Amino acid sequence: MKKLEQLYEGKAKKVFKTDDPNLYIVDYKDDATAFNGEKKGQIAGKGAVNNVMSNIVFQLLEQKGVPTHFVEQLSDRETVVKAVKILPLEVIMRNVSAGSFAKRYGVEEGIVFDKPTFEFSYKNDDLGDPLMCESHALALGLATEEQIATIKKYAAIVNDTLKEFFLDKGLKLIDFKIEFGLYDGEVILADEVSPDTCRLWDVKTNEKMDKDRFRRDLGNVEETYQEVLKRVKKAD
Ligand code: C5P
Repeated sequence: MKKLEQLYEGKAKKVFKTDDPNLYIVDYKDDATAFNGEKKGQIAGKGAVNNVMSNIVFQLLEQKGVPTHFVEQLSDRETVVKAVKILPLEVIMRNVSAGSFAKRYGVEEGIVFDKPTFEFSYKNDDLGDPLMCESHALALGLATEEQIATIKKYAAIVNDTLKEFFLDKGLKLIDFKIEFGLYDGEVILADEVSPDTCRLWDVKTNEKMDKDRFRRDLGNVEETYQEVLKRVKKAD
């Protein structure tokens, strides 16, 4: 397969066309942004961590019945993926209060929920990815009712699977954001699952092991990303 021209450059990844119209090559960058692009920086080695970790997680999720865009890892940073059309909905699930949830409702971080929460935000940088309810997503034609039902079903499997997976690695899955795309008319999981897109706290110390280290200037950012990958790669 040949890597052809760049199709798109996002904040954390570049996407290239290939000579197969059904496949793209994703190239993960070390660039880091936060607060809708207001804070910018680099996290050395992040691209490789996020690529390898996402691929491990996607293969696990495939086994659990969630179809994903993953096809083949080409190198530390590059992966062949299915040429999906991303749905402009960020799907966020939370097991414990943190981040924008804690801020919005004026509560502390660390409240363990009886049931996970589920929310959408509208994937739109100009608008700052606002929180969006299901009926608004339908009204704007961002997804169909059937697609939303499928997304909810898959998101619940992702949460159950990843909670258990990370716990086994000494990490609590606090919350995460996933994205879905359409491929051959079907909803499949796309984008990434990484310390950029999940909050992960150490089981013993509650230390933050994710992008909050960059967002909040907590230090040891690179080392933490490497530690998370090391744990994720660890055999059971
Ligand atoms: O900021 P907030 O608390 O809403 O984030 C919830 C989860 O979604 C966090 O794990 C965060 O890393 C992730 N997220 C993301 N991309 C965004 C917004 C949130 O990966 N644009």
